[in-house]
Amino acid sequence: MSSLLITGATGFLSGAVLAKALSENAFDHYLLLVRASSAEEGLSRIKENLQRFACDEKSLSSLSLQNIIIGDLAEPDRFLNDERLLEVTHVINAAAVASFGENALIWKVNVEGTLKFARRMANVRKLKRFLHVGTAMSCIPEAGALVTESITHKEEEEHLVQYTWSKSSIEQLMLEQCPALPLVIARPSIVVGHSSLGCRPSSSIFWVFRMALMLGKFMCSLGDKIDVIPVDYCAEALLMLVKRRTVEERVYHVSAGDERSVSFAEIDRAIADALGQPPLSSDYRQVDYEDLIQCRREFKTIYGPCNERLMLRAMRLYGEFSRLNVRFSNKKLLGLGMPHPPRFVDYIRHCVETTRGTSIPEMMKVDFK
Ligand SMILES: NC(=O)c1ccc[n+]([C@@H]2O[C@H](COP(=O)([O-])OP(=O)(O)OC[C@H]3O[C@@H](n4cnc5c(N)ncnc54)[C@H](OP(=O)(O)O)[C@@H]3O)[C@@H](O)[C@H]2O)c1
Repeated sequence: MSSLLITGATGFLSGAVLAKALSENAFDHYLLLVRASSAEEGLSRIKENLQRFACDEKSLSSLSLQNIIIGDLAEPDRFLNDERLLEVTHVINAAAVASFGENALIWKVNVEGTLKFARRMANVRKLKRFLHVGTAMSCIPEAGALVTESITHKEEEEHLVQYTWSKSSIEQLMLEQCPALPLVIARPSIVVGHSSLGCRPSSSIFWVFRMALMLGKFMCSLGDKIDVIPVDYCAEALLMLVKRRTVEERVYHVSAGDERSVSFAEIDRAIADALGQPPLSSDYRQVDYEDLIQCRREFKTIYGPCNERLMLRAMRLYGEFSRLNVRFSNKKLLGLGMPHPPRFVDYIRHCVETTRGTSIPEMMKVDFK
C-alpha cells in the first residue's frame, strides 16, 4: 500500500500537489502535516485550500480526520512519535516559511525543524522516496546565466535574503546528516499562478509584475528574461519525481528553462493585452533602487493605501532578483519524460482576470507573512 505524506498542503505548491494527486488517485493513502489546534481544524484548513484549486466534491469528501497529522515544524518533537509515520512510503516535503520578509521562524522551521523531520523519516523502513522541495534561487546564480543543478554551497553573506540561505543550508545538512534518507531534491524556479485558474489559488509574486508596470519603471530591463512556471505544472513534476521508481540524479530543477522563459517585454505586452491597454514598451524605464526611493510619494496615488516602506522593501528585494536575468536548465527533468511547461505569457490573462479589482498591497500580503 502506498502512503504519501505531504507537508505544506495548506499552501500554494503542496495544495496543487494534493489536488492533483486526489484527482488521479495517485496514492492509496495520504497523511497531511498541518498546523492546527485540532484534527477538525486541520481538515477544514486543507479543504479550504483545495477549494482554491477547484477540487471536486468527490476528492474533497475522500479526506477525513484520519488523513490529518497535526504538527508544527517549529516544534517537531510533538509529532515525530506519531505511529502513522511508520506506514509512510513517500514524502513530499514543501512546508517552509517561504517569505522574503524578516521572520525569526525561517531558520527554526526551514532548517532545524526540517532536519529533525528528515532524520526521523530516514528511520522509516517502508520509505521509498523523500522528495524535498528546495528553490532554484538558493544556488545564488550568476547574472545572465543558464544555471544547471549543482550542490555547491555559498556563504551566507552572498544570499540576498535569509530564506534562500535557509533553503540552501537544509539541503546541505540533509545530505551530510541523513545518508539513509532516500532523498531527491526538486528545485522549482519561480512559481506564478495556475495555467487555467490564474491567481485564484494564490497571488504570490504576480503582484511584482503588476507593481513594476503600474509604476512604469523597475530595476530590470525589458530585455531581461525570467524563469516562471505555473503551479499545476510544478505539482505534476513533483508527483512524477516522488512516484518514479528510479531517478538517477539527486537534484532536479522544475523550471521553464531557456526555451520557455520569457522577457519582461513579452510580459508587458501580454498584461497590457489582457487589460485592453497599450503596452509600456519604450515608455518603460530601467532604474536603480535610489530612483525608486525618489518616487515613493507617488505610491499611494498609484497603488492606493499602502505602507511606503514595505513597498520600497519589496521593490528592492524583488528588483534585485528581477535583474538577474537567469534561466534554470530543465534538461534533466525533460530527460525523465516531463513535457515543457506553458510559457508565462500564454496563461498570464488568467492571472490578470483573477486579480482584477485586487490592489497591489492586498496581493503582496501573501509574500510578506
Ligand atoms: N512559490 C514559489 O515560487 C516557490 C519557488 C521555489 C520553491 N518554493 C518552495 O516551495 C515550498 C512551498 O512554497 P509555497 O509557495 O507553497 O509556500 P506557501 O504557500 O507559503 O506554503 C507554505 C506551507 O508551509 C507550511 N508551514 C509553514 N511553516 C510551517 C511550520 N512551522 N510547520 C508546518 N508547516 C509549516 C504552511 O502552513 P500554514 O498554512 O500553517 O502557514 C504552508 O502550508 C517552499 O519550500 C518553498 O521554498 C516555492
